[in-house]
Amino acid sequence: MIAPVVVTHGGAGRVGADRLDAHVAGVARAAEAGLAVLEAGGTALDAAQRAVEAMETDPLYNAGTGGSLTEAGTLELDASLMEGAFLRGGAVCCLPPFEHPVALARALLEDGRHVMLAGEGAARFAAAVGIEASTPEAMITESAKARLEGWREGRVGEGWAGGTVGAVVCDAGGHVVAATSTGGTVGKRVGRVGDTPILGAGTWADDRTGACSCTGIGEAILRFGLARTVCEGPEASAQDAARVALRAFEARVSGEGGVIFVRPDGTVGIARNTETMSHAIARAGEATVAGH
Ligand code: GLY
Repeated sequence: MIAPVVVTHGGAGRVGADRLDAHVAGVARAAEAGLAVLEAGGTALDAAQRAVEAMETDPLYNAGTGGSLTEAGTLELDASLMEGAFLRGGAVCCLPPFEHPVALARALLEDGRHVMLAGEGAARFAAAVGIEASTPEAMITESAKARLEGWREGRVGEGWAGGTVGAVVCDAGGHVVAATSTGGTVGKRVGRVGDTPILGAGTWADDRTGACSCTGIGEAILRFGLARTVCEGPEASAQDAARVALRAFEARVSGEGGVIFVRPDGTVGIARNTETMSHAIARAGEATVAGH
């Protein structure tokens, strides 16, 4: 029997020293919230969703409330969720304000008819399944406005492009799940879609290989197919698989970012090539480990 584990990240980038402790504490709380779901009998999908929802609610992160804004000053949210037993996935992109984009991705996964919905269509699906929309007033923060202002003035702000959040889970039976959510890059064009909602790029889960959630510059992650590359790495350890894939990502497409990875045996790999990537590992029976 495997000790269930939940791993979270709060985004690759450059979080300043003044906010780093809070950033790390938030991803640790999210991982523990996901593990509590597993320990209460929930599924790996429930645990990954819960962990990501905790970070979507927290305005510190670039996902859900506090997400980065488009060049027009609007929120367009991306999220996805995938499970490794049957390779089922759900994803939303260019979503107008919704408190939990990952919950909508989950509803789509459970519905099973489509894998991804965009913008207005995703909002209509939400209404059909009883998920309420939020408002720009509730979800656009002063900090997100300041980041956009900085981008307009040519300053690349703290947390630059990544800041995406994610979780990977392995339950006691070796069933793996990955989930990722983001506001995308600051000042992105309206309609731009990054890696986060694209299965194989920002998120991938397969019970034969593992589950991975990515963060960083979405265009490079899309071109490289980072999440699936990490999962299919032949390296002996999960940590080496994460590290080697990230090195190739940097070499081949000048990629910047980070990954969290869990194999179906519960072993974990974490790698980044940015200054910071808040992350945490909550494993049953052990103290939570967190860092940046
Ligand atoms: N990695 C998130 C994005 O580029 O949208």
